[in-house]
Amino acid sequence: MKIRKVVFPVGGLGTRFFPITRAIPKEMLGIIDKPLIHYAVEEAVHAGIEEFIFVTRHGKSSIEDYFDYMFSHANYFDVKIGSMCYVRQDEPKGLGHAVLCAKNLVNNEPFAVMSADDFILSTKSCLGEMASNYDGANMVATMSVDRKDVSKYGIIDVLKEDGSLVYAKSVDEKPPVEEAKSTHAIVGRYILSPDIFDVLEQLAPGVGGEIQLTDALLQMIPTCGLVGFKFEGQRFDCGSKKGLLAAILQVASQDANLQQVIEEFNRRK
Ligand code: UTP
Repeated sequence: MKIRKVVFPVGGLGTRFFPITRAIPKEMLGIIDKPLIHYAVEEAVHAGIEEFIFVTRHGKSSIEDYFDYMFSHANYFDVKIGSMCYVRQDEPKGLGHAVLCAKNLVNNEPFAVMSADDFILSTKSCLGEMASNYDGANMVATMSVDRKDVSKYGIIDVLKEDGSLVYAKSVDEKPPVEEAKSTHAIVGRYILSPDIFDVLEQLAPGVGGEIQLTDALLQMIPTCGLVGFKFEGQRFDCGSKKGLLAAILQVASQDANLQQVIEEFNRRK
């Protein structure tokens, strides 16, 4: 099914990167010469997305400035001008709340959600692969994680697996290690039914006192279903310092000039 719209929730505080994120949005942190959000938009463009909706907040205007240039002046992405919109999240009340802020712009059609801090390096657009497999059930990108790390993720309770698809009977946000039903973790790529807005509107705060997207996905399993997509490629958690550094080193290692710097650094040790 053709997915035309993507929502980028960029309203988070990025506390793990304080102090730099006091003044620079986490999504504008660079992997060498491009900010994280650039890579996410690129992945969306390769998935055929036409409308780009950013859920933003105070202090994030450099994202708008960046894309003013990349879309309008440089026409870097070669998609039509006027397809960018911005809506504000008044307070950082969680990922689910950020998605809800985009309700009026998404309107009544299935849409994608991408977290720019989940950086995916792959020969194929992860979102594009998901869109090709989307059949109306809510879809999330999943990967296998170490059991000790399950409490950092939404974790799927598996009903059945079929190739790259994992059908969920339940899902749990950040479960304690001993309670996790599997090691299939959700990473920040979603294709969602617009029915999720009605669910988000009446959802109580969950883990961390935030409106959790995972809780809305759980409520919708009986009516809509939930499918995990096991994507190809490497994912870096660039919401953490270690993940961002690993991503920078990975990208640098693919560039002959930059690789020299890594080799020199390793020799000096
Ligand atoms: P995180 O859970 O990483 O939160 O959000 P955060 O605030 O960005 O970072 P830390 O944990 O304080 O370091 C995951 C994604 O959801 C967005 C973030 O911008 C990020 O893309 N988000 C989160 C919102 O848009 N609004 C929110 O209220 C919370």
